[in-house]
Amino acid sequence: MFAEQYGPWALIAGGSEGVGESFALKLAAQGINLVLVARKAEPLEALAGQIRKAGAVQVRTLVQDLTESDMLERVKAATAGINVGLMIYNAGSVSHFSPFLDDTVDETMRMVRLGVVAPTMLAHHFGDAMRRRERGGIILVGSMAGYAGAPDEIVYSAGKAYSRTLAEGLWYELKPHNVHVLGLIMGLTRTPAMDRLGLNMNNPEFPPDEPDAVADEGFAHLAEGPIWNVGGKAEAARFMSSAPRAEAVGFMAKGAKDLHG
Ligand SMILES: NC(=O)c1ccc[n+]([C@@H]2O[C@H](COP(=O)([O-])OP(=O)(O)OC[C@H]3O[C@@H](n4cnc5c(N)ncnc54)[C@H](OP(=O)(O)O)[C@@H]3O)[C@@H](O)[C@H]2O)c1
Repeated sequence: MFAEQYGPWALIAGGSEGVGESFALKLAAQGINLVLVARKAEPLEALAGQIRKAGAVQVRTLVQDLTESDMLERVKAATAGINVGLMIYNAGSVSHFSPFLDDTVDETMRMVRLGVVAPTMLAHHFGDAMRRRERGGIILVGSMAGYAGAPDEIVYSAGKAYSRTLAEGLWYELKPHNVHVLGLIMGLTRTPAMDRLGLNMNNPEFPPDEPDAVADEGFAHLAEGPIWNVGGKAEAARFMSSAPRAEAVGFMAKGAKDLHG
């Protein structure tokens, strides 16, 4: 049933580590072939090798920075001749925290391409084919940071607000075509990228989610859409969405201070 709706191939943009790795292993267990995209070849090939060794599914890899201008052409080439029934846009974390004006405009625009441009292009490309086939699914990974402007990661949080809105609208438009769309909103999650950022994973106020649990929640709620707040954070999401905006931003700033010191 799962493979009939979302197979025979899935593409995971950001499919080498953390939640992307969990998505990949769970899809392979469902018999869905994989196209995995990431920048660093080593973890990407290690995961692909592990899945191929199990022998159940085929795996294609694409070493690609999703913010580069040739991204769509290279993704099209990597998916030539196959039907992608599930597109997961997972890549997107910040590499550092800094005030808006302390980043160069080039760094800033890179975040716009990562959080806004690339998911839009991939949702358009794969969504079109899914609509024609009358089946499929799209998961856009979001963040609690998308519920209010988050100081020191403003463009990231603005991109996540965009991504959530994109998921909601696409969910409505593609539902009659049997294409399921989910904005999967994550809170703090234990991933290699967060280890590299040095985030505090031991703050009792913000206990991290685990990648496998996040992926399970994503698949469990994909068919219903449009938004799923991971790890029981629906109430926090409601608060952040409905609070007076100064209060919401203040709450975000305090949370960031607790996490990054
Ligand atoms: N972890 C958290 O606490 C947390 C909280 C809220 C939301 N999220 C969201 O969850 C998603 C996954 O986050 P994460 O913590 O695992 O970190 P991440 O840095 O987004 O990494 C996830 C995957 O994306 C790939 N990737 C990152 N930047 C890329 C780029 N420019 N081009 C191609 N691939 C790229 C990574 O491999 P390479 O580095 O090799 O490219 C990795 O496979 C993101 O969308 C993030 O915003 C995470």
